Amino acid sequence: MNTPEDIINLFELEQAARTKMGNQTAWDYYASGAMDEITLRENRQSYERIFLRPRMLVDVSQRDLSTKVLGQKVDMPILIAPTAFQKLAHADGELGTIKAANRCGTIMCLSTLATSSIEEVGAQADNNLWFQLYVYKDREITKDLVARAKAAGAKALVVTVDSPLLGRRERDIRNRFTLPKGLTVANLSKAGLENLPDDGSGNMPGNTKESGLAAYIASLYDESLTWKDLNWIAQLSDLPLLVKGILRADDAKRAIKCGAEGIIVSNHGGRQLDTAIPTISALAMIKDAVPKDFELFVDGGIRRGSDILKALALGARAVLIGRPVLWGLAVAGSEGVDLALNLLRKELDLSMALSGVSSLKEIKRDLLVDRKDLI
Ligand code: GLV
Repeated sequence: MNTPEDIINLFELEQAARTKMGNQTAWDYYASGAMDEITLRENRQSYERIFLRPRMLVDVSQRDLSTKVLGQKVDMPILIAPTAFQKLAHADGELGTIKAANRCGTIMCLSTLATSSIEEVGAQADNNLWFQLYVYKDREITKDLVARAKAAGAKALVVTVDSPLLGRRERDIRNRFTLPKGLTVANLSKAGLENLPDDGSGNMPGNTKESGLAAYIASLYDESLTWKDLNWIAQLSDLPLLVKGILRADDAKRAIKCGAEGIIVSNHGGRQLDTAIPTISALAMIKDAVPKDFELFVDGGIRRGSDILKALALGARAVLIGRPVLWGLAVAGSEGVDLALNLLRKELDLSMALSGVSSLKEIKRDLLVDRKDLI
């Protein structure tokens, strides 16, 4: 495997990224999960345990992968998940990712913890940018982030609710993870909070003996966040609100009551609470509890087009992809993100054809084998 053109699936892309990145601390930060990494593994393996019941002799000569998310058309049900610090993978960073999203006709969700600001990324966006919000203790900072996202052209606000503290990522603790010189939490420069501990900036209390990101979050994020705060966030702007990090049906119902127009079923890529339920299982439970057309999304462990077919069969409007986008960036910058997205797009297209479906609305739960029917 010498050039990106030789890469034929996301697992090969991951291996190529590992070789290319070289920097073990950055690699571990992206690749790792919390504690024993059980949820990280199960997110993936759960898809491998679901079997399909393809339908034969259906005309699949014309296939359409497009759909609408929050009223907006996208060319495929594959969106880009918020992931922090994309310049750790490649100098193109978040700007490379938005350009790939433009070319692929999809949406990118920019992380609060991006290494490029919402203004820089918004300037390159093609009406396809969402902003992921972490809620800082200082509510003025939170308010300002929302206002800036709106001004920069973001089309939705994605509030992450699974991170009052950072999960215990042991690889990051061992590596004393922090950002290398020259990279910052760009969205927080205005507030003077752009540096992680241990970078010599003096912005943060003490030298960390742990993950610099864990220390940053422990000192700055609001651990007291509750549902009433979600109401407050909802009224900060007229942007549609998505809640990311929901794993239970009762929480999904509460999020809807607070005005959420979409929910991203997520365990943060296995990076927060280890042994939390794999997301595909949580999606199935939540789907049964929300109104039929309510927009559910799922992320975590999706590496094959057939995984996307399964997620859609279980009720997701679209999926979000995190790590593979970073692997793409690492391997070939912005073009590498196209590679990651297009590999998945092609696999989904083929999985649909081989299952006897030609559009996303034909993907129903009956494509999946019920566990009780497996010998
Ligand atoms: C940031 O959101 C992370 O999961 O590291």
